[in-house]
This record gives sequence, structure tokens and C-alpha cells, in this order.
Amino acid sequence: MGFENILTEVRGTGARQTGLITLNRPKQLNALNDALMDELGAALKAFDADAAIGCIVITGSEKAFAAGADIAAMAKFSLTDTYGADFITRNWETIRSVRKPVIAAVAGFALGGGCELAMMCDFIIAADTAKFGQPEIKLGIIPGAGGTQRLPRAVGKAKAMDMVLTSRMMDAAEAERAGLVSRVVPLAELMGVALAAADSINELSGISVMMAKESVNRAFEGTLADGIMFERRLFHTLFATEDQKEGMDAFLNKRKAAFKQR
Ligand code: CAA
Repeated sequence: MGFENILTEVRGTGARQTGLITLNRPKQLNALNDALMDELGAALKAFDADAAIGCIVITGSEKAFAAGADIAAMAKFSLTDTYGADFITRNWETIRSVRKPVIAAVAGFALGGGCELAMMCDFIIAADTAKFGQPEIKLGIIPGAGGTQRLPRAVGKAKAMDMVLTSRMMDAAEAERAGLVSRVVPLAELMGVALAAADSINELSGISVMMAKESVNRAFEGTLADGIMFERRLFHTLFATEDQKEGMDAFLNKRKAAFKQR
């Protein structure tokens, strides 16, 4: 895949591997413009469609995961450019349609659209240098890629309001305490830990992994009763797979499961 604003690699040596996407506009701290987001969408789609890929990791640089939507690109936008062209939605929605797990490995700034992009991933592993924030209010706008909705779900109303209204950043330790990130690790260990998490997912039955992701995401839509029923039906469905027979047989026979992805 030949891209100008991101780098893509396949990592891992197992039967299924990890698609690694590195945001790569270092001079602009990985500010997210249309070209980058189109490339990110294309890379995500390609990895999602590739049977050899079990999991995707998105990362940035040591200084910035991403410092937000590209302010230079947006500065002169009119209502016609934003509402008329459905700005943000047009090329930001792809990540939400990816069915395989997507892990964000975040070091440095994850601000505005960068924080929103990280929150669109399934979970965030942060370096101890990570800083999260929704500073759009300082630009006379508000978050436009889900920040006002996903941040309160992740950290609760008080902290979300504090961040969105005052634009203050949260460091990695606070982000972990608040539930925004799943783990904080030293910067030097970030990629190793994120890729190891991906590897552990790659070894599993991909169909159960996809259903697990779909079911957890249901927790944020609709009622608890609907979500419980949705989960139960997916749970029932997994008993139609060979991988369920293999996983349970392996447990009972005290051996490692060898999933066949069917
Ligand atoms: N868009 C475009 N360019 C950006 C950018 C962004 N979001 N963030 C940083 N840059 C550029 C800077 O303009 C600068 O470029 P030059 O070298 O050409 O001057 C370069 O990246 C380095 O940035 P700084 O010199 O500012 O670096 P710093 O270390 O002093 O500060 C920072 C780092 C605190 C992240 C600061 O750059 C900053 O505040 N950036 C903007 C953050 C922001 O407001 N994000 C929200 C954007 S709006 C949005 O995202 C809407 C949405 O919901 C989708």
C-alpha cells in the first residue's frame, strides 16, 4: 500500500498477524486532514478484509498520536464546506465499520480529533507521556468527531465537561484512573505492549473476537435489556463454530487451543 500520510506494516509471525498503521505527518504533529483520513480509511478497510490479519494497531509518533483535525485546512471553511459536504463524517466513519479489533497505542498529544480517533478504537494503551484533551472550545468550535459523546461515556460527565469546557488536558495517569485508557506503560515499552496485546488476540478464534467486539459496542447503544439479549444470541451462535469445540476440548484436555478460524 503506497501512502503519503501514514505508514503501514504487517507485524507478527503467527498464523494471523497484526496490521500496524503509523500516522505520519510529523511536522504537523499528525494533524488529521482529509488526505490522511482517506488513507487511514483505505488501510483499515484493506486490513479488515485480509484474512491473514487478526488485529489492527494505530499509533503516531513519540511527540503526538495526533494533535487534532488540521486547523490550517479548516480555518476558512464555511457552513457549506462543513454541513454541506458533511465534514468529519465523510472520511471519519470508516474506523467505526471495522469489524476486527483496533488498538490505539498513544504517546504524546492526543488532542481534539486525535483524542476522538483514539476513542473510536476499541481500547487505548497509553505511554506515560500521553496527554489527552478536547481543546476545540479555544478555537471557537466544539468537538466534531464524537468527543462530546464518547468522552463522557469513558470518563463520566464531570471530567468530560471539565475537559470540553476548559480545554484542560488529562495526563496518562489520570486517563487510566478515569477509564479512558486500559493500560499505561513506559514510553519505551509502548509498541511492544500494544503489539503483544494484538498478538494475543491474533491467536484466538477470529469469529468469537468479532462477536465480542460487536457485543461490547452494543453496551453504548440502546437499553441494557436489548444489549443483554443481543449478547446472548451471539453467545448461542458461537456454538455453531468449530473453534468453540476446539477451545473447550483444548481446555478439558489441558492443551493450547489451535483455532482454525471457522
Ligand atoms: N492542525 C494543524 N497544524 C497543527 C495542529 C493542528 N491541529 N497542531 C499542531 N500543528 C502544527 C503547528 O501549527 C506547528 O506548525 P509550524 O511548525 O508550521 O508552526 C507544528 O504543528 C508544531 O506545533 P507547535 O509548534 O504548536 O508545537 P508545541 O509543542 O508548541 O504545541 C500542541 C503542541 C499543544 C499540540 C499545539 O500544537 C496545539 O495546541 N495544537 C492544536 C491542538 C488543537 O487545538 N486540536 C484541536 C483541533 S480541532 C479538531 O480536532 C476538531 C474535531 O473535533 C475533529
